[in-house]
Amino acid sequence: MEIVNARLRSKVALYSLKINKGYFTAICEQDGPLDAIDGQIDASGKLACAPFVEPHIHLDAALTAGEPNWNQSGTLFEGIERWSERKPLLNEADIRQRAMKTIQLLVSQGVQYIRTHADVSDPSLVGIKTLCALRDELSDKVDIQVVAFPQEGLLSYPGGLELMEQALQFGADVVGGIPHFEYTRELGEASMKQVIELALKYDRLVDVHCDETDDPNSRFLEVLAAEALFNNMGSRVTASHTTAMGSYDNAYCSKLFRLLKKSGINFVSCPTESIHLQGRFDSYPKRRGLTRVKELNAAGLNVCFGEDSIFDPWYSLGNGKLLRTLDFGLHICQMMGYTDFSAALDLITDNSARTLNIHDSYGIQVGNPGSFILLDGEDDYSVIRQQGEVLLSVRHGQVIMRRELARVVSPDWINDDN
Ligand code: FE2
Repeated sequence: MEIVNARLRSKVALYSLKINKGYFTAICEQDGPLDAIDGQIDASGKLACAPFVEPHIHLDAALTAGEPNWNQSGTLFEGIERWSERKPLLNEADIRQRAMKTIQLLVSQGVQYIRTHADVSDPSLVGIKTLCALRDELSDKVDIQVVAFPQEGLLSYPGGLELMEQALQFGADVVGGIPHFEYTRELGEASMKQVIELALKYDRLVDVHCDETDDPNSRFLEVLAAEALFNNMGSRVTASHTTAMGSYDNAYCSKLFRLLKKSGINFVSCPTESIHLQGRFDSYPKRRGLTRVKELNAAGLNVCFGEDSIFDPWYSLGNGKLLRTLDFGLHICQMMGYTDFSAALDLITDNSARTLNIHDSYGIQVGNPGSFILLDGEDDYSVIRQQGEVLLSVRHGQVIMRRELARVVSPDWINDDN
């Protein structure tokens, strides 16, 4: 496969890309535009970019909003209540059908890597079993990591620890946790130590729903980061949400950031989900309820954006478009400067790949798998400003998705190429 007239991020010239036997074999700067010949794909000056990565989604809960009841208050905790009502209705066919639809939605929006959480506060472990099976079946179409996620507590839910071990023995890729939802501070702290111990025992990654609350006293991130540091596994550990950090005072954050930098853990923020779920106990002033994305990024810590939910008890919108999530995130986190825009796609590509520990074989580079997407725009800035569509998705040298754009056809004085 050969692609001509592609733009690459942070470059001005046009480039030709060659993929042979599934891997990039050449990336050459062109002197100017070329005519596409002999089956070459003409990128027409559009941006070729590494595939999007969805680092945080709940495929077992997706597409269940309103079943059997809607989350009327919009709070995280009512979401958990509504989900516990839907859980008895779960079965393999139900999860499989919804997860497949959601994966198709994500792939149609340029995603080729997904980290999904699967609820293990369930003696049947049907979520883990179904999503691990889908992961294996779809491995030639999309890369999926499955997190064993103890939605109702690792130590507070009866048999939670045993269920987690069963999920890991079954093949879950990542150990999850939810310390702020455990009954007590002590259980929350103990759960973080257990999560790290299990990751070491089973050689797995870690991704914890950590401090997903506006409570400034929710400080399990420091426990997770310290355990990661002491066990020298920071790059394999992710703290998702950490929304309480948006309510921490600056003096505490100053101390905390020292530890975070030493530990080198990764962060996932889910801007659409958090702006919706958090701040619910405030009248005014009303907190934004996000972690300190801008400050984490500026401190050199790895932070990326995920969707979290698509039409589920916690969030009743969502469409698989990470560019939408990025747009929200840049606004909410006040990352609207020129330099922010110029590197913004990092937040849904390279940084997410680092979180998933796939960065060694990710990106448009000779020797890497020949996977990329073509975006309707010339650079990060224009793609974000115009919410450029994903025109093409290539995986290991095979086209897995192609999109034709809708165009304005009348009146003829409107040109939608702006
Ligand atoms: Fe989540």
